[in-house]
Amino acid sequence: MNHSIRNSIIYNVYPTSFYDSNGDGIGDLQGITEKLEYINTVADIVWINPVFKSPFRDGGYDIEDYFTIDEKFGTMDDVKHLTEKAHALGLKVLFDLVVGHTSDQHPWFLKSQEHDKNEYTDYYIWSDDVFGYCPYDRISGNSERNGNYLVNFFSFQPSLNFGFARKTQPWQHAYTDPACEHIHDVVTHIIEHYMALGIDGFRVDLANSIVKDDVDGQCSCEVWRKIFGRVRETYPEAIFVSEWGQPRFAVKNGDFDIDFLTHCFDDGYNNLFRKEPGTNVFKSEGNSFFRKEGLGEATSFFDYFLSNLEEVKDKGYISVVTGNHDLPRISVGRTPDELKTVFAFILALPCVPLVYYGDEIGMPYSDLKNKDGGYCRTGSRTPMQWTDGKHAGFSDTDGDLYLPIHPNYQTVNVDTQMQDSNSLICEVQKLVSIKRDHPELFACGNTFELVSDTYPLVFKRTDREHTVFCAVNPSDREYTVNTTHKTVLAYCHAAVESDRVVLGAQSYVWLEV
Ligand code: NOJ
Repeated sequence: MNHSIRNSIIYNVYPTSFYDSNGDGIGDLQGITEKLEYINTVADIVWINPVFKSPFRDGGYDIEDYFTIDEKFGTMDDVKHLTEKAHALGLKVLFDLVVGHTSDQHPWFLKSQEHDKNEYTDYYIWSDDVFGYCPYDRISGNSERNGNYLVNFFSFQPSLNFGFARKTQPWQHAYTDPACEHIHDVVTHIIEHYMALGIDGFRVDLANSIVKDDVDGQCSCEVWRKIFGRVRETYPEAIFVSEWGQPRFAVKNGDFDIDFLTHCFDDGYNNLFRKEPGTNVFKSEGNSFFRKEGLGEATSFFDYFLSNLEEVKDKGYISVVTGNHDLPRISVGRTPDELKTVFAFILALPCVPLVYYGDEIGMPYSDLKNKDGGYCRTGSRTPMQWTDGKHAGFSDTDGDLYLPIHPNYQTVNVDTQMQDSNSLICEVQKLVSIKRDHPELFACGNTFELVSDTYPLVFKRTDREHTVFCAVNPSDREYTVNTTHKTVLAYCHAAVESDRVVLGAQSYVWLEV
């Protein structure tokens, strides 16, 4: 178990949109490096979405060369500078490991499509006849090779061959086949290449997708265990975070340090934040718990979160996210006060929280047309709003920007909010610094006691003889909770009295009791 991350918060940077250091209208690695001090005010680990050479038909999740940084982002030297400065500040850096598939433009795939057998023939999953039975997501008839290739996501993302948990067709490889074991070597090599440059670990894309026909991801977990085991011989502190959504598989069986708990596999997370239309990529409807109307429920979230936590607590961590590059912004339909309750909640949970860039200032979702395969996700990938000046301080280009700045940048930006002590960013920074000083609020090694899972949410976090009492009321109603306290750590719209707390609309308290 990697104890060095139990007090961490992850900050997710979409690199095209964070900060443009060279005036071409697109964010880059050097731009991220320049903003590390800022990131450090709210987080300890930076996860950067893919920066590798790519045709960008899926935001860089279609990789053409794992060993070249896409020229729009910079060079390998920029990676080194980024990690050096990050480490000097005490920050860790995660890259995105996208190995369930490559781009169909990857030279490995171009060779794999050839009729004649070659070194790359078995790098991808191919059936043996374009007209044969193939019950999988696959593409037929666009190469000289006679067969269908399996895709992992979009049509141009062919699956790398990690094989099948159970072989039912003659053309399939068992996941233990030497051809698949070779892919494990290739992946290990990619990881070690970047670890040698100072990268601290990886967020692993579609981590459950690698071995096909795999019940509960058991064989995928076996493969990840093997790969991570090898990497950790040289880099024992390497951090691996899964895009999976089932910590009791990913962390417990797959040796991931952290698993993201988001909108997939269980509705608990959506029930907290993402039920109303437009808040989820699924066409969901209903009432989120974190809404002023106060019509939602949090029980389903706690059922899923706490049962998974129980299973992984001696092995790793769960990450509850404010958002990511695939989800509509958490700000959709929420006021800054409602967002403060979201942060007061996520930052006090026994988890490694993730803040999606810009959520700490309440950056909005924009209704934009598809760019780089983002489709409805494009609107959550707009340039970071730093100032009320030219291009919101994102870029000083006189040409086009990667994506348009949201028109509300004159009020919703880092600079303006930093001058207002009641702003969302100031509240988030305050909570983060309190959390850093209180082991009771770390991801684990302490206890969590749920007192009330309805309005208002009440729970206690205890480490040795210290207890933090948290109460959060996203609703418009007023509540009174009986408690004494030693110290008031933080509060908003609440009156803390000697033996009770009156929680107003959209309020919270963190108390030492
Ligand atoms: C999950 C990533 O988060 C998403 O952006 C991407 O489109 C798919 N995986 C495919 O790699």
